[in-house]
Amino acid sequence: MKYHKLVENAVKPKGFWGRLMIKSMNIGHSELTDWALEHLSIDSSDILLDVGCGGGKTVDKLCRRVTMGKVYGVDYSELCVKKSEKLNRRNILCGKAKILRAGVSKLPFESDTFDSVIAVETYYFWPDKLHDLMEIDRVLKPRGRLMLVFEMLADDSDPEKWRAVEDRLNIKAVSKNGVTDMLLRAGYQNVRSFTEGEKGWLCVIAEKEDL
Ligand SMILES: C[S@@+](CC[C@H](N)C(=O)[O-])C[C@H]1O[C@@H](n2cnc3c(N)ncnc32)[C@H](O)[C@@H]1O
Repeated sequence: MKYHKLVENAVKPKGFWGRLMIKSMNIGHSELTDWALEHLSIDSSDILLDVGCGGGKTVDKLCRRVTMGKVYGVDYSELCVKKSEKLNRRNILCGKAKILRAGVSKLPFESDTFDSVIAVETYYFWPDKLHDLMEIDRVLKPRGRLMLVFEMLADDSDPEKWRAVEDRLNIKAVSKNGVTDMLLRAGYQNVRSFTEGEKGWLCVIAEKEDL
């Protein structure tokens, strides 16, 4: 029962269980995020966006990489915005970070704004993946990159692996080919993917076309 309450709060954290989930995501996704970020080149003056920023740990990691740039985080959960702002208090005070409440389907940014957009463990929940990828494409600069990071990878040899979470949250584990196909359909180019075999992690990086 308690486990279910916690898991259900991965979708849109709120209340007591949401606070617990945010804490556990900040800890539980840290190693996955560090591994994925090794594959993305980031310049110190980059303008970055973390979509579905949860508790704000990734925003903080990115702030350490962009000494002269800026990092935005968006999440549609009010509690996540609050927690991300708290964790990034110093980054916000010195103007390096800004957290906004927004859904991925309608991002509150001008077109061609970001050098890279990062999305860790959130793609499963997006309401219209093709449209939402195109919306991210809109806010990326030409040749800007989108990095999608996953730990819920479909496993043909073990179809039951994620069944309980999939059923409870009404989401689907992803496959490398499925994500790549969706990115290509959304207009991205140069799609590259990286896997961490032992842990079963997937990181996919795609580029916005140079117009
Ligand atoms: C499993 S958590 C991952 C949080 C964070 N990226 C991390 O790695 O710890 C999924 C996050 O995506 C957010 N989210 C889900 N659907 C969203 C949407 N349509 N727009 C914006 N954020 C969304 C949730 O509120 C939640 O914070």
